[in-house]
Amino acid sequence: MNKVSLADGVNWVGVVDWNIRDFHGYVTKRGTTYNAYLIQDEKVALVDTVKHAFSDELLRNVCEIIDPAKIDYIVVNHVEMDHSSSLPIVAKYAKNATIIASQKGKDAITEHYGTDDFRIETVKTGDELKLGKRTLRFIEAPMLHWPDSMFTYVVEDKILMPNDAFGQHLATSERFDDQVDEHVLMEEAKTYYANILMLLGGLITRKIQEVVQMGIPIAMIAPSHGIIWRSNPSKIIQAYLDWSAGKSETKVVIVYDTMWGSTDKMARAIAEGAASEGVDVKVLKLRAADLTEVMTEILDAKAIVVGSPTLNSQMFPTLGQFLTYATGLRPKDKLWSFFGSYGWGGGAVRGMTEAVKKAGFQVYEPGVEVKYVPDQEDLKKCFEFGQQIAQKIKA
Ligand code: FEO
Repeated sequence: MNKVSLADGVNWVGVVDWNIRDFHGYVTKRGTTYNAYLIQDEKVALVDTVKHAFSDELLRNVCEIIDPAKIDYIVVNHVEMDHSSSLPIVAKYAKNATIIASQKGKDAITEHYGTDDFRIETVKTGDELKLGKRTLRFIEAPMLHWPDSMFTYVVEDKILMPNDAFGQHLATSERFDDQVDEHVLMEEAKTYYANILMLLGGLITRKIQEVVQMGIPIAMIAPSHGIIWRSNPSKIIQAYLDWSAGKSETKVVIVYDTMWGSTDKMARAIAEGAASEGVDVKVLKLRAADLTEVMTEILDAKAIVVGSPTLNSQMFPTLGQFLTYATGLRPKDKLWSFFGSYGWGGGAVRGMTEAVKKAGFQVYEPGVEVKYVPDQEDLKKCFEFGQQIAQKIKA
């Protein structure tokens, strides 16, 4: 391993997962990393571990720096298995280590690994662990990403290790933000936020405010996935504040599927109508675009226009999957509307409208429905529907 130093005595010992493309359903088109950090002082701490398949590589990386038996503490910021599933094997080698976790982290470790053999000390916000010249300070961050989550702050080096927060699924041989293409980095940070953290916007805003009020200087943010923010950590903090506040563009995202092309024709006419009003328009057909991309486009849009043909009196199955995923992520301050084609009884537009209203979102009604194949009059109605939605979000 090429040694990657964040500061004197603070090294990245994580692994790069170049080939993962499906991260529990999230399409990771650029792979990911599982970051772990080794901090050497009079005492030695390993902050986080990695996914089980890479435990050998993590241990090799540690061994190149220090005998794992000399690790005094393993900090478990978060128990989700991409970060903790090599903990049992690492703990065997780091046989003198005490595990540091939040109380919920301790519970989750026991519940995941079916043993209470681990030596675990629990910490809460404000607790500190002296390593020698260095101090680790802990900040509980429940639900960012799980109830157990916490941040570790290396006081003297001003390095925040917030685990999932501020991460990106981005596999590279570089480790720092000033070494990679900024556009790619921000695109992956946005995709990560949209698909992992979007529903937690309120908590994120409050947690950032809490950290700001603590007055702790942050020279570097070292998350558990992807690139370390060292050149300008405030850039990603500001991006998180904007995303969590629901900051959006005058942008319409049209998401749909089609059987024989009728709903596709409608989508294109709606897009033309919206574009004629000067707003940004994105048209995404499910089965061509994946849900990860769709949610990333939705993050900074003001309107979501959803189209489906009727199949067996219901919405098309891909729309059911989309609505389940999208309403679960709870996009903030969006105007939803619906359109679709049918042959006889209909049902897709009604079903989608009811599902989204029931989930508590604002719906622009009525939607547009077309029997069989849209004629010129129908397409004119679709065009006008697109115009109306654009005018609503510009108002
Ligand atoms: Fe990267 Fe919530 O795990």
